[in-house]
Amino acid sequence: MRLLALALVLIVGQSEGASLRSNVLELEDDHESLLTRAKDLFTDAVHDAANAVKPAAKRWSNQKISLHASKKPAAGGVPSWFTGASLERKTHSGQLQGNRRMLRRQKAHHHSVEDEWLKCHRRYVEELEGNEASTSAWDVLFYGDSIMEEWRGTFLGSAWGPFQDVKKVWAEHFGSKPYKSHALGIAGDKAEQLLWRLQNGELPASKHPKVVVVMIGTNDLVGNCTLQTAQETAQAILKVNTLLHAELPSAHLLSLAVLPKGEMWPNRCTDAILAVNAELQEYAEQNSDFAHFHDLGSAFLSTEAVGGKYEVKEALMPDSLHPSAVGMRIVATQLEPIISSLVSRPLSAELDEPATA
Ligand SMILES: *[C@@H]1O[C@H](CO)[C@@H](O)[C@H](O)[C@H]1NC(C)=O
Repeated sequence: MRLLALALVLIVGQSEGASLRSNVLELEDDHESLLTRAKDLFTDAVHDAANAVKPAAKRWSNQKISLHASKKPAAGGVPSWFTGASLERKTHSGQLQGNRRMLRRQKAHHHSVEDEWLKCHRRYVEELEGNEASTSAWDVLFYGDSIMEEWRGTFLGSAWGPFQDVKKVWAEHFGSKPYKSHALGIAGDKAEQLLWRLQNGELPASKHPKVVVVMIGTNDLVGNCTLQTAQETAQAILKVNTLLHAELPSAHLLSLAVLPKGEMWPNRCTDAILAVNAELQEYAEQNSDFAHFHDLGSAFLSTEAVGGKYEVKEALMPDSLHPSAVGMRIVATQLEPIISSLVSRPLSAELDEPATA
């Protein structure tokens, strides 16, 4: 009896061992397809996230927003909600540490970030007014944050070493075109700060531009990459878009996706960035008579994913946030033909009136 029991245990044990082994083999076989499935699930999750913020975008895209500044400057002249905090983020790499050094130096000279920001804004208003008075108006305006300020070779208004080469890239790509381009980015700007600037003098009175390029939003997604923040960011950018179209009805709007950032991709901010970008793309699709969307992101990522993660190419984005001159050359190379084609297809303001239902 005992022998029989032992034999049974052995047989059952062996067959269980065999089935376990075959399970392991199956699992190994399935490894690849599981990874693929995981990636699909991730993509679905991002898609769901994007859908979750869509209703807000629909509201904005069909709504006329107030053209008056909704938030008045504080007594010192800087909007009360101004935050330079996004300029002070921690980073492992040299570029932004250098930026922080520069900020400390400005502080040591009793210039606050707020002062520098306001000086940039006033300079841009003057540049726009000066250009209005000149005979050759700007055809293309680039609005945005530090990434669009790189074109000028400055960081928060001061000449900044690593961006000097970007200024050269700008000159090579946009300096000798039949159309005239100008960049009006300010480091650290969030969408609401750009909106305020536009509401407070940073629009050309002549309504001459043929194309306005907007890249903003990455500073809205610093520290807090929740989907709620993504929704608020998308709403703020769509306000910028709506205002630009209301004020410059005969200009094409080229809305650029928020670039990837961080060292690896996806990371904890990826969902939020993709959700914002989905909104911008949808806005452009719904307003295709004047709005266009372009996503430069994939150029900044390695072609091969390792363990489901892409690398944000260090040569193109050394501080995991700001494109280097090499990165900005890719940006310029991709944007140039799009902008040239839009400049040569002028919009008639009349065609842009929304059709009445
Ligand atoms: C992130 O931002 C959202 C929206 O503003 C806010 O409700 C939430 O409390 C913030 N979360 C954190 C962790 O700061």
